[in-house]
Amino acid sequence: MANDTISFARGAPSLDIVDTDGLSAAATRAFTNDPGGATAYGTSIGYVPLRRWIASEHDVDESHVLVTNGSMQADAFLFKALVSPGDVVAVEKPTYDRTLLNLTELGADVRMVSLQTDGIDTAELRELLAQTTPKLVHIIPNFQNPAGYTLSLAKRKELLALAAEHGFTVFEDDPYRYIRFSGETLPTMLSMDEGESVVYASSYSKTVCPGIRVGYLVGPPALIAQISKLATNTYISPNMVAQSIVYEFCKEGAIDRSIATVKAALAERVEALTAALDRHLPEARYTPPEGGYFMWVQLPEGSDVDALLHAAKERGVAFVKGSDFLLEGGGNALRLAYSGVTADRIDEGIKRLATAYRSLSSTAAAV
Ligand SMILES: Cc1ncc(COP(=O)(O)O)c(C=O)c1O
Repeated sequence: MANDTISFARGAPSLDIVDTDGLSAAATRAFTNDPGGATAYGTSIGYVPLRRWIASEHDVDESHVLVTNGSMQADAFLFKALVSPGDVVAVEKPTYDRTLLNLTELGADVRMVSLQTDGIDTAELRELLAQTTPKLVHIIPNFQNPAGYTLSLAKRKELLALAAEHGFTVFEDDPYRYIRFSGETLPTMLSMDEGESVVYASSYSKTVCPGIRVGYLVGPPALIAQISKLATNTYISPNMVAQSIVYEFCKEGAIDRSIATVKAALAERVEALTAALDRHLPEARYTPPEGGYFMWVQLPEGSDVDALLHAAKERGVAFVKGSDFLLEGGGNALRLAYSGVTADRIDEGIKRLATAYRSLSSTAAAV
């Protein structure tokens, strides 16, 4: 691989949009204001002031919240608590590759339901519900990973009604909610749920930084209590140093400035990305996202994205194949993460991708 590779592969921010000064200052405050809390084992439900902060953000009692080491850990705990081998779990098609991996490793019967530009295809979900009741329906409602699409308000309501009628849990996996740079913010399904149909997960990876590894779950207190036992047995408690830093970062308002920085940068990157695709690779089909980190790109039917990945690597550009987010198919799609590439490098990255694509036409890998 070329050593100046431009990588659209990782769903991570570039360093210029991480507030390292704000984090250092928050760390100093954490050790000064609460040295005991920051350095102790703490408890499995997480750093108590941060747990309280999250509870008030979601307007729930603290007993609904468990703070974890990244939301990936929250997902893993939830799956372990609720999913047994053979249980049906519905997910979006395509969906986050690690969710697919976790569920398959647990022996779940994973059913993929098509994703449309306004979210999961509820007609197709209804067909599935006519045959079976899933334990969980996993939904990434805002700026979905990998597609970048957002679930409409009408579909949020419809999913809640279906959950109440059929008795399944909606797992609302929502790390990108605050990274909206156009359009209107939609309410979470958690906030609209009148029963106990929703378990919600989110993360500070996209609003503070991924290395801090702080995420959380919000759900019915009995389930949270059950999961906190799992958490105790897994790691005694999550990382109190990290959580106390996040708490100070939030309390002082640094998080709002951080979100504003990330949103402004990513809005600029999406514009650069769509302009570059239109210029260099007009065959590409996409829907520009209103927020988040990712854009899903479809190449003409019959394009070989496996071959493209290799050709692109040789030319110094990386992405993730669409097929990684599916159980089958996806051969002509790819995910471009624009979060890690500064706007001034995007045109060059897409130019390299287009050159790689054209290099395949002679071998019939591109059409
Ligand atoms: C939909 C979704 N859920 C969960 C995660 C995991 O996030 P965390 O860094 O909080 O573990 C990601 C990360 O990319 C994601 O896209």
